This record gives sequence, C-alpha cells and structure tokens, in this order.
Amino acid sequence: MCIRQYKLSVVIAALVCVGAVVLSPRASANSTDDVLNEQLSAMLSRHGFTGRVGLSLEQRLGRKIDTKLADLGRLTFHDSLLGLNDDNSCSGCHSAPLGFGDSQSIAIGIGNNNIVGPDRTGPRNQRRTPLILNNVFYPALMWNSRFSSVSGNPFDNIAGFQFPLPEGFSLSGLPHLLTAQAFIPTTEKPEMTGFHPSVPGTNDGIRAAVVERLNANAEYRKLFGKNFPEVKSGGPITYEMLARAIAEFEFTLVFADAPVDKFARGQKNAMTEDEKRGALIFFGSGNCVSCHAVSGESNEMFSDFRQHVAGIPQIAPAVGNVMFDGPGANEDFGLEQVTGNPNDRYAFRTSPLRNLALQPTFFHNGCFTKLDDAVRYHLNAIGAAQGYNPITAGVDADLQGLQGPIAPVLARIDPALATPVTLSTEEFRQLIAFLRTGLLDPKANAHDLRKLIPARVPSGKSVHVFQ
Ligand code: HEC
Ligand code: HEC
Repeated sequence: MCIRQYKLSVVIAALVCVGAVVLSPRASANSTDDVLNEQLSAMLSRHGFTGRVGLSLEQRLGRKIDTKLADLGRLTFHDSLLGLNDDNSCSGCHSAPLGFGDSQSIAIGIGNNNIVGPDRTGPRNQRRTPLILNNVFYPALMWNSRFSSVSGNPFDNIAGFQFPLPEGFSLSGLPHLLTAQAFIPTTEKPEMTGFHPSVPGTNDGIRAAVVERLNANAEYRKLFGKNFPEVKSGGPITYEMLARAIAEFEFTLVFADAPVDKFARGQKNAMTEDEKRGALIFFGSGNCVSCHAVSGESNEMFSDFRQHVAGIPQIAPAVGNVMFDGPGANEDFGLEQVTGNPNDRYAFRTSPLRNLALQPTFFHNGCFTKLDDAVRYHLNAIGAAQGYNPITAGVDADLQGLQGPIAPVLARIDPALATPVTLSTEEFRQLIAFLRTGLLDPKANAHDLRKLIPARVPSGKSVHVFQ
C-alpha cells in the first residue's frame, strides 16, 4: 500500500514535471499567438476592416444575383461577335484562369493570333489588363480612374457616373458603374473595334452595329428573350440589355474571402504567423494602407482609388496601335490624359491588391513579372529606378527596347513613397506572404476559374485558345 502510494505520488510528480516541460513552451507560444492576434485584430478594426465586404453583395445590389442573366453575360464576354474587328472579345485580354487579368504586360487587342496567354502576338495597346475580380466594389475603374461613380459608391448612380467625352454623364441612368462601363470596350478601336473604314464614326454607331449583330443571331435572340420579355415578344435586343448581362456576369466574380477576411471575422487560425506579421507591417510600420486603403469608399479593396505617382519604370512596345505620350512617344501620362492637367502626369490609381497572386505581371504596364521584384522596387523606387532592367524584370522581348525617361517620373513621386521603407529579410518575406496568400481567396484559382470559359459561343466564332 505504502509502496503503491509512494509509486503513485512519484508518477504524479513525474507527470507534473513532464507536463510542465511539455506545456510550458506551448503556453508561451499561445501567449505570443494571442498577442499577435490581438495586435492584428486591433489594427484591422482601427482601419475599419471587417472581412465582410464579399458577403454584402446582394444586400448592396438590393436583389439576388440573376444567374441566368450572368450566364448570358459570360457567353457574350467570350464572343468575338462583340468585336467589330471579328478577332477579339473581352476574354481576349481578360483571361478566366488569370482572374480575368492578362499574362501580357501590355494588352494586345485587335490583330491578335487568337491565343490568350504568353504566346499571344499582335500590336500592343497601352496598359496592363487588370483583374475583373471584385470590380463590383470599385468606386472608380481603370488605371487612371476615368470611369467613376461621383457618389463614391458604384452601386449608386444618384450623383452620376462620370466618363470622358463623348459619354460624359450620359451613362448615369444605368444601375451600376460596371453596367455603364460595359458600354465602352466594344467602342475601343485598338481593343475590339478595329480601324476598318466600315467602322461607324461614333461610339453610338459602333454600339448600334454590335447590337445589330446580336439581333441577327437566332440563338442570341432566344437567350435574350429568356431574360428580357420585350425581346421575347419581338422587340429588339438593346445595348443596355447586353451591358446588363455583362455586368451581371462581373457581379458573380466576387472573390473576397481571403485569410485576412476570415481572420477579421474571428477565425484566428485562418492566417499563418508570417501572414499576420506581414499584415502588421502592411497596416503599421510599412504604412502601405495609407494608399492601399480598406476603409470607407475603398470597400476593403486595398486601394484608395486615387491617383499617385509611384515612380514606375516606363516601358513601351516596339509595335503598337496606341500613340504613347511624350516627345519620344514612349511615355504614359496616366491621369493627365483625363484631366489635361500636367500636374497629374504619371499618376495612376493605387492598385487594389486582392488576389494579387493570380497576376503574372505588375504595375500599370506590367514592367515586373515577379511579385518580390515589384514590391522591392516599390519600397524604394528612387533608389531602385536607375537599376531597372526590363530583361531581368522578365518582360517580353518587344517591350525591352523602348524605355521612357524615368527622371521626370521620379521628380513627381508621391511624398509617401519618396523615403524608402527599410525591412529586414525576414520582414520582407512576411510582407510578401501577406500579399501573396493572405489576400488570396482560395476559390480564385486557375483550375476553377478556367471552367468559366464556354466550350462554344452563340455566334459560332471560335473561342480563343487559352494557354
Ligand atoms: C485589348 C484588351 C482588352 C479587351 C478586349 C477588353 N479589355 Fe477590359 N481592360 C483592358 C485594359 C488594358 C484595362 C485597363 C485600361 C486602362 O486603365 O487604361 C481594362 C479595364 C477593364 C475594367 C476595369 C478594371 C479595373 O480594375 O478598373 C473592366 C471592368 C473591363 N476592362 C471590362 C471589360 C469588358 C466587359 C470587356 C468586353 C466588353 C473588355 N474589358 C474588353 C483590356 C481589355
Ligand atoms: C503613395 C501611395 C502608395 C503607398 C504608400 C504604397 N503604394 Fe503600392 N501602389 C501605389 C500605386 C499608385 C500603385 C500602382 C502604380 C502603377 O502601376 O503605376 C501601387 C502598386 C502596388 C503593387 C502592384 C500591384 C499590381 O496590381 O500591380 C503592390 C504589390 C503594392 N503597390 C504594394 C504596396 C505595399 C506592400 C506598400 C507598403 C510597403 C505600398 N504598396 C505602398 C500606391 C502606393
């Protein structure tokens, strides 16, 4: 008895001892975790980040998504019937597996070889094609924000949707900024319309020609008829119907449930430790959030949707069909193209950063092909600019020859980017982890997105070859 008691107490003592050894590092790891979680939670709520923007879609639309209409939009998006040059559709540049972005640093529109991907050839336009994921929440579209909702809310047309002339405010009656935007690409000559003498001289004329094609197609008449009773009873398909269908498709492209969103909603283990530490740099010492904003009108999209000069290298194509700016025709004046104000020269919209990992190239002209290189440059543009080399940056051969001047760009750099952000190797790795996987909705992956490419389109034209 006595021996057994003795043995038992030894066992208990040993267990306590082992327990202490085993438990103590865990306990301290837990408390570091807790401190990190608390810091990040506090940081996120200070910036008004809730991780709930993706869930707000239908409430903000004021209705449910119309999946039938969205599916029609998906077909038109992939159909070169919309391009009067007969060789390009929205999907020629906005490629499904790439989050409806582009592998090309600078978009290739008409005159292409029907391939979408690295082997696409043809004359280039002026800028990189952005992702069309989550665009429903963007209060201003395009690299120079030239299409915007004056109220700051893309769901609200009360103060009008502002476009450059000739459209001006004429698209303000449409329900959403994306519905209004869908009026534009079909009228862009280098993108879809082409320069053939038969192309109508006005944007309205071009749109009428596109709609005429739709009305001449029995399958489209039937599909639009299923969505619009006016068409079913014999009325014409209108451009607005087409725009509504395209926009509805874009509304379905909400991919805003990244680890950082889950974390903000209380799932503390949704982010890795590196992602959390990277987030602290992003929201804290790195001050990235001062431009890549998440509060208010930014709708948690990691952009203030304002224009800043970030000191990005200017690259230009050997063969293009858009006239570049400047005396050497190798510059992009950005916002100045819209305002006509030389003070706006070289300013571009702060890039929204969600699902960045899907992007093959970075910045408004795709002058970097690796995220690490792009961020390293961005942390110290003034210091890094002279060393920029398009060959080592990995851009295509036809973009390596014509560089625009960098000195005038750097002379205008935003004060917030004029002083380098210095990070240790460890901190840089953590920041990249946050950007690459912390902001990636796992549902936005090439495998699943590719399924959105239709096998055939109603015009019977060939669907592009997606690499
Ligand atoms: C020739 C390639 C090309 C084609 C074709 C094309 N786009 Fe784009 N798209 C771009 C580029 C490049 C931009 C950015 C242009 C800029 O900012 O000046 C863009 C921007 C956009 C944006 C705004 C994205 C943002 O982040 O603000 C939307 C939405 C969009 N396109 C939808 C469409 C739709 C819908 C179609 C078809 C009707 C289409 N695009 C056809 C290349 C293309
Ligand atoms: C002064 C505002 C400002 C600050 C501060 C800022 N950025 Fe940016 N960022 C921009 C602008 C503007 C662009 C687009 C520039 C262009 O393409 O011409 C951009 C582009 C990027 C891109 C490329 C995204 C893409 O789609 O190609 C990344 C990544 C990025 N920023 C990350 C960061 C990080 C990380 C920080 C903090 C260390 C930061 N930024 C700080 C304004 C800012």
